[in-house]
Amino acid sequence: MKFYIETYGCQMNERDSEEISSILRMEGLFEVDSPKNADIVFVNTCSVREKPSQKALSAAGRYIKSKNHRKRIVALCGCFAKQEGEKLRERFPDIDLVFGPQQIKDLPVLLGRVLAGKVSVVDVSDSGYVSEENFSEDFKGVTAFVNITKGCNNFCSFCIVPYLRGREFSRESRIILDEVKKRVGCGVKEVTLLGQNVNSYLDEKNNVDFVGLLEMVHEIDGLMRIRFTTSHPKDVSDRLIGAFGYLPKLCNHIHLPVQSGSDRILDLMNRKYDRKHYLSIIEKLRKVREDIAITTDIIVGFPTETDEDFGYTMSLLDEIKFDTAFSFKYSPRPLTRAYRELEDDVPENIKEERLGILQERIESIAQEKNRNLKGKCLEVLVEKKSEKFPGQYISRSSCNRVVNLISDCDLTGRIVKVRITEALKHSLRGELMKGEIYEKGRCGRNTA
Ligand code: 5AD
Ligand code: SF4
Repeated sequence: MKFYIETYGCQMNERDSEEISSILRMEGLFEVDSPKNADIVFVNTCSVREKPSQKALSAAGRYIKSKNHRKRIVALCGCFAKQEGEKLRERFPDIDLVFGPQQIKDLPVLLGRVLAGKVSVVDVSDSGYVSEENFSEDFKGVTAFVNITKGCNNFCSFCIVPYLRGREFSRESRIILDEVKKRVGCGVKEVTLLGQNVNSYLDEKNNVDFVGLLEMVHEIDGLMRIRFTTSHPKDVSDRLIGAFGYLPKLCNHIHLPVQSGSDRILDLMNRKYDRKHYLSIIEKLRKVREDIAITTDIIVGFPTETDEDFGYTMSLLDEIKFDTAFSFKYSPRPLTRAYRELEDDVPENIKEERLGILQERIESIAQEKNRNLKGKCLEVLVEKKSEKFPGQYISRSSCNRVVNLISDCDLTGRIVKVRITEALKHSLRGELMKGEIYEKGRCGRNTA
């Protein structure tokens, strides 16, 4: 049987899809990269904002429609599936399977029930415990995501995640280390440690906090780079900032969602830090690594946001000069405190207008930073061959910029030095530095 997975939303969901894939492949099923010939289609949904939820839902609708002339199974999973549960069966009477993030480990049993009984199955229960994870040892990538925490305890007033992914749970450090080592054994060179708030990681049993974990992962031979996401500003400790100074494998980038530049809005969002604190973290980080890339998430149009509040967000952009930022219009999410207690009172046209102004400024700062990299030398990890442009490779700098480069040799999995030749809108173009890979067809650093 062939299966296809379509993933919406965050990196957490991508990792979940990888786990689904690994479990099914262990059961003898084959993954295909197009829904065309798939016997089973999974739509892994996201609930964080309205847009990805709606996109996933209409994709599911399309696949269910196509069932009529194809005997295929359609499954909806992920946070939105958990949020809606039985309601999805009312909406899509032909849906075969609905399951939440906590049921991934039970997938063979759930799928077995669907196949045996030709019935639809809905299971979005809270299992109450977090099972160990699966990943396939034939994993082929150069980079991998490794979960270190699951769930979230922060209850930002706009966010549905704590209600759907449950309370925060830290995986045991020795299990994480074992997973990273195995992945390195499969050829992985860079890991991204994942969690809703990695900074609050704590393996209580062995008394290992996030910095302790970073130090241990750093020791792993063959691992070249470490990234982590997402961080919460309230939990960025001086120890973590200091770690950027003595852990060279730690990439030159931190994603630190600020959400707003207005203290009044930050308070209503229940973020537990203010603008001054956020700025002080950035200042300290830049003292340790002058050129560290800082990226962020910003919400516009949160309930009661005035022009003045929005002005504070805009001025923060100019003060910090983020390398890039993801920006969103506030959308009320069921269950959350903002949904229950605050009226969604910023008109849609104002949200739209603020988002436009914000994005224009984000883009112009990002492009200016990219332009400044022209002519500079960067070390990049080559991730894969470009599918679009034969002879080109997609690589990523430590500061998380995509660099396209041309090479005669297969450089996948190697860290090479490139000179930036062109700054494009969302990426860079580069050429190998002289002496990196020199002879046509022979790959290796030219030390002569
Ligand atoms: N509306 C708009 N954006 C949201 N985010 C989370 N919840 C909402 C919401 N209700 C954004 C935040 C978060 C990112 C993952 O999604 O900026 O950091
Ligand atoms: Fe949501 Fe806040 Fe938790 Fe992030 S830290 S997942 S925004 S509740």
